Amino acid sequence: MDATEVITRPIGSVERLVRLAASDMAGVDSLIMGRMDSPVPVIPALAEHLIVAGGKRLRPLLTVAAARLARGQASTVANGLPEDGFLKLAAAVEFIHTATLLHDDVVDGSTLRRGKVAAHLIWGGASSVLVGDFLFARSFELMVETGSLRALNILAHASSVIAEGEVLQLTRAHDLALDQDTYLEIIKAKTAELFAAAAEAGAVVSGASEIDIQALRAYGLNLGLAFQLTDDALDYGGKTETLGKNAGDDFREGKATLPLLLAMARTGAAETAFWERTVGRLDQTDADFLRARDLILSTGALDASLDLAVDYAETAKAALAVFPNNDWRQALEALADFSVSRAA
Ligand code: IPE
Ligand code: IPE
Ligand code: MG
Ligand code: MG
Repeated sequence: MDATEVITRPIGSVERLVRLAASDMAGVDSLIMGRMDSPVPVIPALAEHLIVAGGKRLRPLLTVAAARLARGQASTVANGLPEDGFLKLAAAVEFIHTATLLHDDVVDGSTLRRGKVAAHLIWGGASSVLVGDFLFARSFELMVETGSLRALNILAHASSVIAEGEVLQLTRAHDLALDQDTYLEIIKAKTAELFAAAAEAGAVVSGASEIDIQALRAYGLNLGLAFQLTDDALDYGGKTETLGKNAGDDFREGKATLPLLLAMARTGAAETAFWERTVGRLDQTDADFLRARDLILSTGALDASLDLAVDYAETAKAALAVFPNNDWRQALEALADFSVSRAA
């Protein structure tokens, strides 16, 4: 099977959500552009390189949509907090995400991000890590401006959980015996926690009820799991040009993601030596990646990973049942479908 044919799920459309959130997101973007500035020249240059390259802006979109959906329901709008607090939170969420990408590309030795050469290859690893720290710090300044200690707490906690997830993953690299529960624990920490926090914090600054806040948190968490599972499938089933990052990076790093774990379990003794050499000892060629990809496809490991992603996306949608069936809810439902059917 050709790798480009792999992802054949129904395509969810985010167009409606993007349209609904367009004016809020324009506000978020201008905050992002304004707040990445610094008199120290390398900071805006490096930050701009990544930020202007775009990205899907999914996490700030989540904060905006959660805030708007919850606001429709809230008895007191924003609890006396600034009206634009959710926009600042959304910008902060994107800064946290951008910071983790800068750090992650150094850690993973990735060379391509958002279709552009990774920042650490231009400015070096040290500058990349330090500008990541700058963006993290800026995100905290934005959060403080919202006046919500609870939102600050949610995103501060998410930031430490992301770092834990990245470190846990690092310590389990090349581990052929990684179990599925630990894999899920890693992706929950490194990715899903920020999705959960983005939605939860948006609801909090809208003065939402506790039930609505927890519903949006559950939506974000399950969406994040679905998103990362799909991302891990795309590393084998996607195309570099569409992804804007190199397909095959996970295999080349010896990262034990679900498609690989399932393929290893399903190929059994016949391929043990192959997996031990390529993933365990990282002794591999480009041809080895193609063989691994073939095994991941032919054993159904890729489909099984996507099936699990779809399950999480369905759980995410179900969490929204507490809300009226309005435009924002429907748009968030479509976002869950998009997350598991995307090619980029
Ligand atoms: C990349 O996230 C990191 C993962 C959690 C897989 P995105 O795919 O949302 O990255 P951008 O922001 O759109 O570039
Ligand atoms: C994504 O990690 C999570 C974070 C950046 C914290 P990955 O290493 O799996 O994502 P990509 O493939 O580099 O985007
Ligand atoms: Mg990476
Ligand atoms: Mg990584």
